[in-house]
Amino acid sequence: MKQKILAVLTAVIFMSCMATIKKYGYTDGPILTFSEDAHTSVTINWLTSENKSSQLQWGEEKSNLSKTETTPAGTDHHVTLRNLQPNTTYYYKINEELFLQEEELIPNDKIFSYTTPDKNSPLDFVIMGDMQAFNEETLRTNRVTMKKLSKLDTDCIVQLGDITEVGTDPESWHWFMKSSPIAASTIPFLSVVGNHDYYWEIPNAANFKKTLKYNYPSTAKSKSAYYSIDIKNAHFIFLDNFDLWPGMTPSQKRWVEKDLEEASKNSKWIFIFMHHPPFTTSNEGDKSNLHRWLLPLTAKYNVDAIFWAHMHLYEHYEYQYGKNGYTFGLNDKIADYPLHMFCSGGGGARLDSLYGGFTDHEPFDEKMLMWNRTEKKVEMKVFEKRPWNPLKLRPELADIVSTTQDWTKPGFEMSKVFYYYPFDTKDAYDNLEYSTNKENLYTDSAKFLGFKYGENALHYIRVLADDKECTISVHYYNGNEGDHGQIMETPFGHQQKWNFQAKSR
Ligand SMILES: [Fe+2]
Repeated sequence: MKQKILAVLTAVIFMSCMATIKKYGYTDGPILTFSEDAHTSVTINWLTSENKSSQLQWGEEKSNLSKTETTPAGTDHHVTLRNLQPNTTYYYKINEELFLQEEELIPNDKIFSYTTPDKNSPLDFVIMGDMQAFNEETLRTNRVTMKKLSKLDTDCIVQLGDITEVGTDPESWHWFMKSSPIAASTIPFLSVVGNHDYYWEIPNAANFKKTLKYNYPSTAKSKSAYYSIDIKNAHFIFLDNFDLWPGMTPSQKRWVEKDLEEASKNSKWIFIFMHHPPFTTSNEGDKSNLHRWLLPLTAKYNVDAIFWAHMHLYEHYEYQYGKNGYTFGLNDKIADYPLHMFCSGGGGARLDSLYGGFTDHEPFDEKMLMWNRTEKKVEMKVFEKRPWNPLKLRPELADIVSTTQDWTKPGFEMSKVFYYYPFDTKDAYDNLEYSTNKENLYTDSAKFLGFKYGENALHYIRVLADDKECTISVHYYNGNEGDHGQIMETPFGHQQKWNFQAKSR
């Protein structure tokens, strides 16, 4: 009987795996990733419609692609170029009829280039949020994003998850591939896995992992897609919020803590990326209590900044853990400095307002069990979360992005852009005074958790860091090549740009 049950179970598991990994119907790519040493290697990923072996040619001269790599039979192809020299340009060509071969932004000769990082130059990377292309409108905003990023001289693009609308559907991966090679064929694309990439029914990141090869540690089981990598003087950690929903598996958490401990000895900067928000003023709470685990760690290891997405908008928090007298644990370290945290969800997907998230979510309570360090007692803090107040939206400030050229192309329907800010006056904004009028904040916890500013806008974040100083700035796209677009400002003129010094760890 036991054997029969085992056989049935095996068949069910096999069939569910078959259902997860469907045949791919297109020949798409390429996407560059880092799956080994970021300074001496790069991985090229592409997909073929047929289950077959595929070939790639490469070399240092565009006219002489003398080296050939052949992949094993399959639909997902990965080639890692190794022993590369620093600050050197390499050229490559995939011997397939790629879907994007006629795209005006792809080289006519289908020969792509990649330049290895120069360790002596400052770290420079950009961060974008949810993409989720599924129709012509979202494809267009994805293309605008990718086109802008493709013009930047940057070390890599970090994408914060939800690259697909339905991660279990090959069509969704094709929509992702329609726009992403514009930038990711020449700039390494480092993505975290999002809930849409998993897709809710099947708790398995198989499609994400089989499409994009990253530096997954051996402890990451097939269902998990977390990893880390060193780039120049920085350590990048990419969490998987979904390998145990709601939350993260204990094995992932153990891996992260060990990885952080190691990084704190060797890296000048530490950045953490994830998809799901530890907190947000928008319409979702932290179902996994991620903040209770994450914030004490960032204080312990002096993490420099953390980034998440999922909400299709922009938010900035600046929070010195423990400084307000509360921690989650009795013995947690009070942070030495404020931690910058960003929600960066405007990477091409429909903005929050277009999903109706601004006005129609139900009010609910968020409860946090905190340790009151002054009174030395445990307190249950209850934060109320209310529907968005339409009166607080600022339609008169809308469309700032649409004034730049890319957004005004004929036929382009610019998403309406709204500002929101939870402060009555400039003085209140400057002093971060929390008004007692509850209409002013969408969530009571916002001030408590260091909320500074949010905006429902398409945007990207740029990070620059040498050995002494890090600068983080938030940009709207524009059509000008080479520059970084317009820096986002609050309605009171505060630039979304910060400088901070390297920490001693
Ligand atoms: Fe999401």
